[in-house]
Amino acid sequence: MSDTDTITLMKQAVGRVAAARVKSDSVVGLGTGSTTAYAIQYIGERLQKGEIKNIVGIPTSFQAEVLAKQYNIPLTSLDAVDHIDIAIDGADEVDPDKHMIKGGGAAHTREKVVDSLANEFIVVVDAGKLVDRLGSTFLLPVEVIPMAVSPTMRKLTALGGKPELRMGVKKAGPVVTDEGNLIIDVKFDQIENPAELEKEINNIPGVLDNGLFVGVADLVLVGEIIDGKPSVREF
Ligand code: A5P
Repeated sequence: MSDTDTITLMKQAVGRVAAARVKSDSVVGLGTGSTTAYAIQYIGERLQKGEIKNIVGIPTSFQAEVLAKQYNIPLTSLDAVDHIDIAIDGADEVDPDKHMIKGGGAAHTREKVVDSLANEFIVVVDAGKLVDRLGSTFLLPVEVIPMAVSPTMRKLTALGGKPELRMGVKKAGPVVTDEGNLIIDVKFDQIENPAELEKEINNIPGVLDNGLFVGVADLVLVGEIIDGKPSVREF
């Protein structure tokens, strides 16, 4: 089995377990990314089979919205509901305290709004996302309004980071978020205090939010391959 196949199997396994936790009559935060995409697919299939009913989703991105429509999951907005029962979302890095870096899909600002509001926030990752310390493998995404890119980059450098503007793939120029902003990815050699850094970066004028999610996750579902078979453990 190739590494790609193995990762897909792990993502499908966690997506299935997370989708199985969605109950009838609930408002569901729909995360962004390739792992959550499987959870959205399986929630749609459960609705279709009649295993659950009366679900409404709150999408965290245009991607989640498109997938929800594809799998016939009714959508609503935060103006129309006063709570979210459960949110399911992926992550780019998860540390032993369940603090995370998110934003690989440039959706972390909306994700933080939805995930933080949920009564239960379930994170779905494959085992490769677990790290001892945040920043080990992934750059920290920062969403910024376009006119504030240069001063924000200087401030991020002063905080000890190495910032770079995220560029598009199959599109010339920078990535533009669903909210019409830009993303600066920052390499920090050590993120010793994620809670402090999250606040410091968000205090820079022009920054909307950064990808540090501190104390937000209730449960992390980790997809692994054990004896050649996909398996899911709770963390
Ligand atoms: C989107 O902005 C991110 O926060 C994703 O949730 C994260 O990048 C995980 O994506 P994958 O499941 O595709 O790795």
